[in-house]
Amino acid sequence: MKEQERFEPRIIGFLCNWCAYTGADLAGVSRMKSAPNVRVLRLMCSGRVDPTFVLRAFQLGADGVLVAGCHPGDCHYQEGNYKALRRTLLLKRVLRQFGIDERRLRLEWISASEGEKFARVANEFTEEIRALGPLELTAALETGPALELEEVRA
Ligand code: FES
Repeated sequence: MKEQERFEPRIIGFLCNWCAYTGADLAGVSRMKSAPNVRVLRLMCSGRVDPTFVLRAFQLGADGVLVAGCHPGDCHYQEGNYKALRRTLLLKRVLRQFGIDERRLRLEWISASEGEKFARVANEFTEEIRALGPLELTAALETGPALELEEVRA
């Protein structure tokens, strides 16, 4: 078996409590087939996803990071998802500077009733990351924000 075939992507999914997480839950209770590669972390809002969370996930071994929140206009904290959008665009630039393919970070809007969408996104993203292969961190990311992240961990 080729190395690429054996590769199972590790994906961290930061999901907002009110929409995306509930959508993921719906996918589960509806027994929709979604890739188990996405390991879900529930936050109250996508706007709570600090950029260091994403960088830390990559540093700790994630091959991909999914951020999912409520559709524009539906955020329970008014503008958290717009903040998430701005941060994601910025983070993609940062990732490029660290030599990481920006497709490894994905932002999606998933409502509480969109279990099917969550399953589709999880499956699509898993296959996309599988095609990209395992993340190989550049020395810059290993030593760059690491100090700051060590503080978060402490
Ligand atoms: Fe869902 Fe803000 S509460 S994105």
